Amino acid sequence: MTILILGGAGRTGARIHRRLSTNGVPTRLASRRTGFDWDQPDTWSGAVHGTTAAYVCFTPDLAFPGVPEKMRDFGRLAAAAGLERLVLLSGRGEEGARMSESALREGGVPTTVLRCSWFQQNFSEHFLTGPVRRGLLQLPAPDVPEAFVDLDDVADAAVQALTCTIPEDATYELSGPELLTFAQTAAILTDACKRQVTYLSVDVPTFIADLAQDGVPADEAEPLAHLFTEILDGRNASLTVGVENMLGRPASSFSAYARATAMSGVWS
Ligand SMILES: NC(=O)c1ccc[n+]([C@@H]2O[C@H](COP(=O)([O-])OP(=O)(O)OC[C@H]3O[C@@H](n4cnc5c(N)ncnc54)[C@H](OP(=O)(O)O)[C@@H]3O)[C@@H](O)[C@H]2O)c1
Repeated sequence: MTILILGGAGRTGARIHRRLSTNGVPTRLASRRTGFDWDQPDTWSGAVHGTTAAYVCFTPDLAFPGVPEKMRDFGRLAAAAGLERLVLLSGRGEEGARMSESALREGGVPTTVLRCSWFQQNFSEHFLTGPVRRGLLQLPAPDVPEAFVDLDDVADAAVQALTCTIPEDATYELSGPELLTFAQTAAILTDACKRQVTYLSVDVPTFIADLAQDGVPADEAEPLAHLFTEILDGRNASLTVGVENMLGRPASSFSAYARATAMSGVWS
């Protein structure tokens, strides 16, 4: 049994790889640095060949235009290669992501979909790291509540889905344990970092200009901005029991994440 981890060096992929390796499960990591490119379908079969299951993580975002077609082709390739299960990382409340989920399932391989809330680690391992350091979180969204989920919970759930005895064709919505507005996350970050962090709702050009300070190119920031203006409207302002159902324990809180991350020095 070898598990293919697409996006293996990324935020979720690396966490899943660590857990599987610790448990002695053989893995194969795949991304552009190993020759697998979502934009070059002729690179896919070499990565899939000889594996029994795959963690499917699409970058930059499963909800972007053109991704369902790639998911359809990948799902069919996985079926033809004899894979027994797929685990797909997806997002809550995203119409584009729903289409990608269905498209991947067209190949007929049992697929567990992990439909996640906003990642807590967006504030420390992704585009909000620089804004937290600057003490000003700017997003093109009203101050709506979100149920921020910890990536370590997501990784634990993915490992559970990849290694449970019988592959499950199921969808789990994964959220954190509490609803927080961005202003409330800023207050928690203020406490954790021991300096002021403020939230400001801004227009799309201001958001793109802010991310440009951290080297995020406009062609990445722009679709992100449009995705946020779509999904940050309160549609995901509800808690789910996905983490408890999959892992038999409560989801980890934003405060615990903020305290531990501040201690790591990433925001200093
Ligand atoms: N952020 C959120 O709050 C949130 C919430 C719900 C769902 N999601 C979903 O999470 C997914 C991203 O997961 P993640 O954060 O774990 O990933 P990630 O860390 O952004 O990226 C994982 C890896 O993907 C590889 N990659 C980039 N472009 C590629 C390409 N063209 N072909 C092959 N590999 C490529 C990169 O490695 P190389 O440089 O080696 O290629 C990167 O290390 C997205 O699909 C998004 O929809 C995000």
